Amino acid sequence: MFKARQALATLFHVSNPNDIVFTSNTTSALNLAIKGWLKPGNHVIATMVEHNSVRRPLEYLKRTIGIEVDYVAVNEYGQIDLDVLRNSFRPETTLLVCSHSSNLLGSIMPLKEIGRLAHEHGAVFLVDAAQTAGTYPIDVAEMGIDLLAFPGHKGLLGPQGTGGLYISPQVELEPLLHGGTGSQSEVLEQPTVRPDRYEAGTANIVGIAGLAAGVHAVLEYGVEQVYERQRMLIQNMMKELAGMPGISLIGPRFGEPRTGLVSFNLEGRDAAEIAFLLDREYGIAVRAGYHCTPLGHMTAGTSAGGAVRASVGLDTTEEEVETFVLAMRKISAQ
Ligand SMILES: Cc1ncc(COP(=O)(O)O)c(C=O)c1O
Repeated sequence: MFKARQALATLFHVSNPNDIVFTSNTTSALNLAIKGWLKPGNHVIATMVEHNSVRRPLEYLKRTIGIEVDYVAVNEYGQIDLDVLRNSFRPETTLLVCSHSSNLLGSIMPLKEIGRLAHEHGAVFLVDAAQTAGTYPIDVAEMGIDLLAFPGHKGLLGPQGTGGLYISPQVELEPLLHGGTGSQSEVLEQPTVRPDRYEAGTANIVGIAGLAAGVHAVLEYGVEQVYERQRMLIQNMMKELAGMPGISLIGPRFGEPRTGLVSFNLEGRDAAEIAFLLDREYGIAVRAGYHCTPLGHMTAGTSAGGAVRASVGLDTTEEEVETFVLAMRKISAQ
């Protein structure tokens, strides 16, 4: 567990590995950050690309303890206007939360500028790095990130059931879980020492060992190289898809920064049908529907039927992209 924490600290430029706590996925990390920080009457700024794992805990607190939430609009490509964001702060704003990259659009938020705005207004900055941990460089110090929620099982190549939360030493969260930590056993409250304070109960050590191996592999490959490789594959995919009749692409325009995914629709066809054909006829797994982000679909103008999302990973080959392109060429011509 210590080696995993160290590797993650290297990846995210965290100075003290004990400020990283393990959770079972991004969702539990986001719940710890959101529910452990917010108090009745607080105001939160989020964006119009958030995943339900941010939106639902916020909406839950809105109903139960009385917080207020604004979802700042972004343009149809998923890009934020910093002036609009600046004007959304209120005296009671204590948290700014944003997805580093939309899991529908692939757009990438300018975290450094957003982090600066959060701190200028006295708010804590929480980043949902579900789509970028291990696939896009993250530096918590440079980007002013106070809380970073990440999965183990995506870009960090770890097993399912792993994830974590970086908690800045300046931020004190209420723990969500209370119980045994193997430390300060005579004390009735959760220990104050990290990571114990936020890691009650027996850890998923087998999973975390797998996560350590994944993070080491990413560090060895180089996260900038991961991003460049995925970007190259996705841009090729976009170029081919854009030339097919009836295809409309969603997200940043060709050449603009984006993570390793492209979402699209085929005119007159259901997204689920495309996904079904790709799976059954070509053995290609994509995701169709709403991708747990109805807000993202509102932004993209695809609320009516959702979209198809294709994505690449570190080991996706150019031949596999070519296979996908040929399959889509046939499906779009049917
Ligand atoms: C942007 C975003 N946030 C949160 C999550 C939830 O992640 P997890 O399954 O690790 O809880 C996802 C999952 O796809 C996601 O894409």
